[in-house]
Amino acid sequence: MLAKKVSEALNKQIELEASSSQFYLAMASWAETEGLNGISAFLYHHADEERMHMLKLIKFVNERGAHGIVPALKQPPVTFKSVKSVFEQVLSHEVKVSDEINKLVDTCLKEKDYTTHNFLQWYVSEQIEEEALARKIVDKLKLLGDDKGGIYFFDRDMEALAAQTAAGGGAEADKGGK
Ligand code: FEO
Repeated sequence: MLAKKVSEALNKQIELEASSSQFYLAMASWAETEGLNGISAFLYHHADEERMHMLKLIKFVNERGAHGIVPALKQPPVTFKSVKSVFEQVLSHEVKVSDEINKLVDTCLKEKDYTTHNFLQWYVSEQIEEEALARKIVDKLKLLGDDKGGIYFFDRDMEALAAQTAAGGGAEADKGGK
């Protein structure tokens, strides 16, 4: 059985993963309307991954005898200033998620809940990969600056990356492949 503090903290994380999914879904939809099909495919996939992160937490909480709560969510932004701004927001959002995962790990240690601590290690590794990938994308975009032609090729690269992640490679494949 989960301690109240742990189940509350896990439910807070469920909400954060759900809102991450909505946030990336809004970015994907915006990119699609801008004709940026590769970027949007990547972001749609990223939104699905966040939903999976949420689902994994809900199931874990329920298995441990507590209740995973499906949260109400605020509407995410509708439009975005630029592709660079989108990925800068992805990166800062992932940094925030990592901070929250670390706090959650800390709560488990304080509550001596080593099972949940063990379960959360998957999220700790996932955050390292997600942050690294977002940072790499932001760095590429910084190199491009305002070059519109560059964005066209960047979009094609993102299409390839989306296909790779959809095939199950994920950030792992990205790390090994480049
Ligand atoms: Fe599930 Fe990208 O945090």
